[in-house]
Amino acid sequence: MRVLAFESSCDECSAALIENGSVISVRTHTQSVHRDFGGVVPELAGRSHLELIDRLCQQALHDAEAELASIDCVAATSGPGLVGSLLIGLHYGQGIAQGRDLPFRQIHHMEAHLYSAEIESGPMPLPFLVLLVSGGHTLLVLVRGLRDYEILGSTLDDAIGEAYDKVGKLIGLSFPAGAEIDRLAKSGDPQSYSFPVSKRDASLDFSYSGLKTAFRYQIQKMTPQEIENRRSDLLASFQFAALASTKSKIVSAVQRISPRALVAAGGVSANSVLREAMISTALAAGVPCYVPAMRYCADNAAMVGYLAWKLEQERVVDHHEVRARPRWTITDLNKEAARH
Ligand code: KG4
Ligand code: ZN
Repeated sequence: MRVLAFESSCDECSAALIENGSVISVRTHTQSVHRDFGGVVPELAGRSHLELIDRLCQQALHDAEAELASIDCVAATSGPGLVGSLLIGLHYGQGIAQGRDLPFRQIHHMEAHLYSAEIESGPMPLPFLVLLVSGGHTLLVLVRGLRDYEILGSTLDDAIGEAYDKVGKLIGLSFPAGAEIDRLAKSGDPQSYSFPVSKRDASLDFSYSGLKTAFRYQIQKMTPQEIENRRSDLLASFQFAALASTKSKIVSAVQRISPRALVAAGGVSANSVLREAMISTALAAGVPCYVPAMRYCADNAAMVGYLAWKLEQERVVDHHEVRARPRWTITDLNKEAARH
């Protein structure tokens, strides 16, 4: 079975071709129009998707040496995300499906992230615990099975990727700043500044806005030259506090739930220190750890196509009318599954 898939929920525009669960081709373009604004500008994102999507689709088909006539199913992210961006991928995909009389699957973006590590590793043992960390979300999700999800914890304020991006902006890095902070922090001393490690309580929720504020207060006390000279130390100390809090929640969750595997997903799961923390936590708990290949951490259509294929295999029937769902909680999928 061949699935042609699209992802356009935020600032990555992507098309991919999946054959029987394997990625044959994927083309992803990260929009650069937002760099000067320090964050994603919804209006510009939608317009940019419109300019990109057809070309990316043609390129993905060309890379796979495939014709549209060989496709069995089309899939696109329908939420959550920016409505103007979602609509582009959704309607482009729907157009192809209708024109060729093919089944069309609307995909939940976060559900696609949940299984992104499976693209390379194959099915993961159930139940597994996923830390889903991106620019828009920080969630701990227990996956008992397909469409059987429980949110154990989430952020009370900023998403962790958002904290990386805001701290990066404060220190003059371009957007998005996460990968650059990861790189710069490697040469810094994580103990040189003492930033607060948030949420030292029994809950499995996260919080990052206090840390961001503490970082801002710290650099307000410094001259531009001092900030420049101590940049790596500042960023290493920020990262230490952000990930110490994150890791403590994962450890608590693993102890409480005893999952059969620990899984990372989302753009921030590309972080080198976080990946090590996940692996060491899993090792201590005696369970396998799954982290997506770097190219499947950030938003991409391969994970959308993979999930569509998985849903087809499991004969999951969705009765959604085709529409963009800017807000769509992942646990709504459990209720929808129970109704059918
Ligand atoms: O999943 P994603 O591509 O888009 C969203 O759905 O948000 O995640 C993007 C986020 C950005 O905040 C970016 O700064 C962050 O992932 N990020 C990282 C790293 N690479 C990307 N954060 C920390 N360390 C990294 N290596
Ligand atoms: Zn995402």
